Amino acid sequence: MNISRLMIVTFIIGFFGQLYAHAEQPLKLEAKDGFYQFPFFNTQTPVWSYNGQIPGPLIRGKVGTTMVIDFVNGLREPSSIHWHGLRIENAMDGVPGVTQDPVGPGENFTYRLQLEEAGTFWYHPHFNSSEQLERGLKGVFIVEEAEKLPWSQELVWLMDDWLLQKDGTIYPQFNTGRDLMHDGRWGNVPTINGKFRPEFIVKPGERIRLRVINGANARIFSPHIEGLPANVIAVDGRPVTQIFPLNRFVLSPGNRIDLDITIPEHAGGKIFEVKDTFTRKAFQLASIKVNQAEPVISPEFKPPIADSFIPAQMFENVSAAKTWDLNAIRGGKFGIGWTMNQRLWPDADKVDYPLGVPRKIIFKNSSSRLHPMHIHGVFFRVLERNGMKAIEQFTRDTVLVGPRESVTIGFVPEHLGIWLTHCHILEHAEAGMMTTIEVKN
Ligand code: C2O
Ligand code: CU
Repeated sequence: MNISRLMIVTFIIGFFGQLYAHAEQPLKLEAKDGFYQFPFFNTQTPVWSYNGQIPGPLIRGKVGTTMVIDFVNGLREPSSIHWHGLRIENAMDGVPGVTQDPVGPGENFTYRLQLEEAGTFWYHPHFNSSEQLERGLKGVFIVEEAEKLPWSQELVWLMDDWLLQKDGTIYPQFNTGRDLMHDGRWGNVPTINGKFRPEFIVKPGERIRLRVINGANARIFSPHIEGLPANVIAVDGRPVTQIFPLNRFVLSPGNRIDLDITIPEHAGGKIFEVKDTFTRKAFQLASIKVNQAEPVISPEFKPPIADSFIPAQMFENVSAAKTWDLNAIRGGKFGIGWTMNQRLWPDADKVDYPLGVPRKIIFKNSSSRLHPMHIHGVFFRVLERNGMKAIEQFTRDTVLVGPRESVTIGFVPEHLGIWLTHCHILEHAEAGMMTTIEVKN
């Protein structure tokens, strides 16, 4: 192990104030019981959190470094941490029963993460996920580029959605028939960084990098900023191959986008409303308030783009290696199971693929529900929707497959190991909609 690499400084920044730690003293993430104050109640809401924070600490590391994170399980049930979107060694992927044993109550597990790519990622448990995430266990993980671009300001928005009862507690039934017959557990309180309808303060002229992460169990967001143009510069942590305007981009659970926004010089005093437009009735998520200040000079630069990462042409003569039919059945541990080719996890229809060979997969949704399908450890490109060419100018690690829709993706397995593949509506995943892709030499 290269010591100087380990000595490289890594740090955590809390959403309020900053907290620096060095890699030689590993970062500690402790999952435990706690309380959180929502604005609507005069009592505190019992939650589960990392380090007592909702959301968990914002972790920042530099590309090319190794980060050591000591996970301590202070819960009364097993847990683990998965680093969503990071392409890391399989043994560090945090999937109990697949890449590691569950981390029992009072136990710990040390994750060593080699940060291969810069981008916006996040972390969450991968055990009893529909309950553990819903109770508050999640956080953002940013891998910074080697060279910092001169953004005036960076904003990070972790979108979430809570199902709260009148007495201020989290609705305590999980994986209900209602959740399972529909698109999982949709809450009644949407939050950004744990705050209900927060206001963000900017200055005229500022150029802002806004990282948006959907960390909800099931709710899909499609954020729209009224009157303020925004460009999408990265999707699921990777730079796009062509920058495009944000136009009702759909963020299903797991998805991330990075936006490039310039506040107009004459916008001093304005308030831009951020609304969600996915559901029939748009609702307010946040607002961006422009200070009455002298405009700052907007920095000029071009955000990086990924020119040739897994180009679509690579798959032209490749036939589909697998079609996974997505549907529901009666049965399974909750009475309703969600299947991939009629099978329920762990008795799943698994595949193995050789390293480095382009593969095409079809997710065919035979149900009338939503399935954001996520593959660990790879980025893929959407090639077709319903058999029609639909090449997106970016790669993803999660794609929403709509009712009766079929989505063809292409990817190149680049990391050995067993990679979980599942619906990111966590109730569907818990009810069986998971399998694995094993990458072999
Ligand atoms: Cu957010 Cu199995 O993933
Ligand atoms: Cu699903």
